[in-house]
Parts: sequence; structure tokens; C-alpha cells
Amino acid sequence: MENVSRRNVLKAGGVALGAAGAFALGAPASAQPWRWSPAGSVPGTGSGVDPRLVWDTEADPLVASLLDRGDVPKVNELLRTWKKNGQPLPDGLPADLRDFMEHARRLPAWTDQDKLAAAVRYNEKRGLYLGVLYGFASGMMSTVIPREAVAVYYSKGGANMKGRISRTAKLGYDIGSRNAYRHDGEMIVTSVKTRLVHAAVRHLLPQSPHWNNAAPENTPISQHDMMVTWHSLPTTVMRTLRDWNVRVPADESDGFLHSWQLGAHLLGIEDQYIPATWDQADSQAAEVLDPILAPTPEGIKLADTLLDLGSGLDATVLSRPILGALTRFMLGDRIADWLRIPREPVWSPLLDTAWGPFVAVRETLLPLPPTPQVYWTFDEILRQFVLLYMSELRPISIEIPQHNNPR
Ligand code: HEM
Repeated sequence: MENVSRRNVLKAGGVALGAAGAFALGAPASAQPWRWSPAGSVPGTGSGVDPRLVWDTEADPLVASLLDRGDVPKVNELLRTWKKNGQPLPDGLPADLRDFMEHARRLPAWTDQDKLAAAVRYNEKRGLYLGVLYGFASGMMSTVIPREAVAVYYSKGGANMKGRISRTAKLGYDIGSRNAYRHDGEMIVTSVKTRLVHAAVRHLLPQSPHWNNAAPENTPISQHDMMVTWHSLPTTVMRTLRDWNVRVPADESDGFLHSWQLGAHLLGIEDQYIPATWDQADSQAAEVLDPILAPTPEGIKLADTLLDLGSGLDATVLSRPILGALTRFMLGDRIADWLRIPREPVWSPLLDTAWGPFVAVRETLLPLPPTPQVYWTFDEILRQFVLLYMSELRPISIEIPQHNNPR
């Protein structure tokens, strides 16, 4: 069996033995044909080509060339000053990069300002939940998305997960800002920079022996992978709010969807893969996200790091046991067990019994809180997440990596 690499096993749709035990890495689902129709996408039409075979035709060759030409340090330095959507690009960028970015930073013709205004209302009302949801529903879910976990672990940022988490959280923060896509906002800048980072990762990871040994593919971050991760964000947030019986007015949930459709477009996802409605998003998620979730050795280690997110802060309510219990509560026993998160004797039962009523009180569906102390702690958890993002986000700059994680 020595010449049978994990990738070959996975490609064959089988089960591989990882360092920490046996892991079924989502291959059976990825062997299925792509069925989701572009009729359900934002433009309602498209070639329908399998997104597992599409990456980023514009950004990938450009960034590969920047890396090969040795231009990345200069580009990163120049782009550090580019922060606001309306700001002109800095002077001195290579001409091919400038041309690409001028085009990539433009909002598509289907941008709807009324929907973006509704997204602001959504984010204002649900802002308190969003920190914990992006962090512990979406963030933890990313550790059981096998291709993403492996890519993140072996890329440069995998060596410093705290920094990486803060940079990723910046996108969650920017997309929820009042001015996300306006001149004085930062979401366009963050998305275009992230598009460049992903293109660099596609060039660099195939040079990593560690990644090559662990990954079930030759080039990471396909259009399919990006939609999987996209569903771990807005689709998972909406599913969880629905589970919590949080009623979101239709215009606001459409606005939230629209802000993420624009985010997807700016990240380089082709419009033909971006769902037009929540129904379409749910149907695509059922096809691309739900069946591929699985543990990997890399994802287990990433999750372990995420559980220490609150350590070193004054935020005592963001302790490891509470964050573990939150993960189990939000993602369920199956995923928590995959990630080897122990059942927490105090917090798990408390969340199971008291979170629902707590949310109902917050949503003013119930008149009086029966156990105020627990509710105070829950409120504190939500607040501390918001503060955590605020404090970690200040000096963050998303930069094009030039190497992989050396481990
Ligand atoms: C980098 C967001 C999809 C793997 C980043 C960054 C952000 C981000 C904000 C910059 C953070 C940093 O510089 O560390 C997103 C969003 C996605 C998405 C919103 C989809 C909607 C994916 C997918 C994969 C992936 C599908 C892999 C399968 C990576 C890697 C990095 C990265 C490896 C680079 C980290 C480094 O510098 O080493 N992503 N991402 N991303 N992303 Fe994504």
C-alpha cells in the first residue's frame, strides 16, 4: 500500500487512514455529477459547467505571474495603503494587476441599493448574534469542510491561526458594516484582496509536499469549493436563526442574501453559481455542503486552535469549555464528536434548555426571563464575541502570501 497516497485513495472514492484515525474525506459525494442548474442563479443562465473544474481564470494566471516575477513584496506594501472602497488604487502597481483590480472592484450591474439598505437593517437587528454565528457556526464548520481544512492548514496562515482568524473575521465584519459596499466602506477592498490571496494559494499549495500528500485534488479552491464555504457562512447563519425561531422579515433576509451575493461576485465566484434566492441557496447547499462535511486530522487541529480563541483575553465567558459547548449546541453532536470536543457537563445542558427561551426573550416573544443569571451570561457571550472581533480587527491587512506553511 505504500505507493497509494491519500489523494489516490480519495480520488477513488474510498476511505483513508489519517494520523489520528480513520477519516472518510467526503470523496463519495464529490464523485457525483454536478446537478444544480444555472437557471437558479443570479443571472438565471450560464454554461452549467461543473464548478469543480473551474477556478479563477482571470486572477490565477495574473497572481502566478506576480509571484514568479518577484513583484509580490512591492505589491503588498503598496496595497497596505488601499483600505476604502472609493479610494483610488495606489500608484506604482504593475499595469496588469492595476487593470485587473480596476475591473474586479466594480460592483455588478445587478447591485440593488434597496436590498443593501435592507441588509443594513438585518445586520443592525441581528448583529449581536452574527459574531457568535460567524465564529462558531461558520468558523467551526470550516474545520469539517475537508478541502478547506487541508488548504488552510498547509498554507502560510496555518502557521499562525490566531492571525488568520482575525483576517478572515475582517470580511465578516466588513460585510456587516453600514457602509459595506459604499465609498467609505471596506468590503470591496477586502474581497478583491482575498481574491488575490486565493489565486496565490492556488499557485503555492501545489508546491507543498504536505498539502500534496493530504489533498484530494491537484489545484485548491475551485468554484465549487468557494460555494461550499459560502454556504458555511450566510446559508448556515440563516439555517441556525431559523432553528432558533428568530423571525426575519423577508426584505431583510433578502437584503442579507444580496450582500453575500455581491461578496461572492467580488471574490471571483462566477454569477452562474451564485444562488438567486434562499430556496435556491438551500437546494444548492443540500447538494454541495451537507454531504461533504467530514473530519480530517488537519481540521481537528484547527478546531482545537479555534477553541482557544478567547484565551489571553479578559473575556472569561469565552472559555474553552463554553466555546466547546457552543460548538456542540450549534453544529450538533455528530460534528462535535468528529472534532473530539467533549460534552460539557454544565454548559451543554444549559444551552440545550435555556438558549431557546433566551432567544425568545431577546426577540420579545416571551414576557419575563425565568433564570436571569443564565440569560446575563448568554448575553455576555454574544457581547464578548462582538468585542473580540472589534479588538482583533484594528490593524489588519490582508496580504498575498509568498510561501506555504513550512510544517
Ligand atoms: C484566505 C475568505 C473560500 C482557503 C482568505 C481570506 C479571507 C477568506 C478573508 C484572507 C485571510 C488571510 O489573509 O489569512 C473566504 C471566503 C470564502 C473563501 C469568504 C468563500 C466564500 C475559501 C476556500 C478555501 C479557502 C473554498 C479552500 C478550499 C483559503 C486559504 C487562505 C484564504 C488557504 C490563505 C491563508 C494564508 O494566507 O495562508 N479566505 N475564503 N478559502 N482562504 Fe479563503
